[in-house]
Amino acid sequence: MKLNTLNKNKILKNIDVDRVNIAIYNTIGSTNDECKSLEQKNDFNIVLSEEQTKGKGRMGKEWSSPLGNIYMSIAFSGSKSNEPLSLISGLICQKAINKVIGEDSIGLKWPNDIILNKKKVGGILIEKEVLGSDVTNIVGIGLNLKLVKKESWWGDLSEYQHIDRNELINIILRKFISYCDKGIDNWKDKWETSCMHLNSNIKIQSNNIKINEGMCIGITNEGALIISSNKDGKICEYEYGDISIKGVY
Ligand code: BTN
Repeated sequence: MKLNTLNKNKILKNIDVDRVNIAIYNTIGSTNDECKSLEQKNDFNIVLSEEQTKGKGRMGKEWSSPLGNIYMSIAFSGSKSNEPLSLISGLICQKAINKVIGEDSIGLKWPNDIILNKKKVGGILIEKEVLGSDVTNIVGIGLNLKLVKKESWWGDLSEYQHIDRNELINIILRKFISYCDKGIDNWKDKWETSCMHLNSNIKIQSNNIKINEGMCIGITNEGALIISSNKDGKICEYEYGDISIKGVY
């Protein structure tokens, strides 16, 4: 793993610098919180940090954030119709990592976990700031390149020694900007193709309480998960929750 320091010029390669405002820290509480506190001057506010002391995960969980990984947040105004930014952000990261590693080994777990070898190697936290009619989206991305201490269900990308952090961040940003400018064709088909639990039996739960169990048959245009229930074959859609799959973290 090329653990070169975060480099603004490399990160912004082939990106219109007049459209972005970028801040790079050695240490910070949370890049999402910092991004939220910035005035939205350019099209994209980007905050990166080598480590976080108060990294935030989904559902109020903590995101372990030691040195050596990727912690980034991207803020931009407005929203693209009813497309699910959360799933699309996962898709963008998955495609960017696969491009850098030169393999198709990264998969997606609903709603936006990034998976390698059945373990979670990255997560995304979307937050929104609403001020009158102005909406700012904050997309927080955590990618584990190398973790020394990890829980059994955490993975990292350390088997890909050649990953260059600056290059990976640059590709994610370019894909993001391109998505904001012109969308992604057939994003739903692409997401489903990358989904590692399509046609598998899954459980959906919220706050650790099981809500349903059944076959995952896809997602809706709004990003809700579609399950055919084991109990009665009823087709159910879920907008929120966490899923578990046998044999996967
Ligand atoms: C998850 O629980 O899966 C989401 C994890 C999101 C972590 C990233 S790291 C950069 C950004 N800053 C934060 O405090 N959280 C997100």
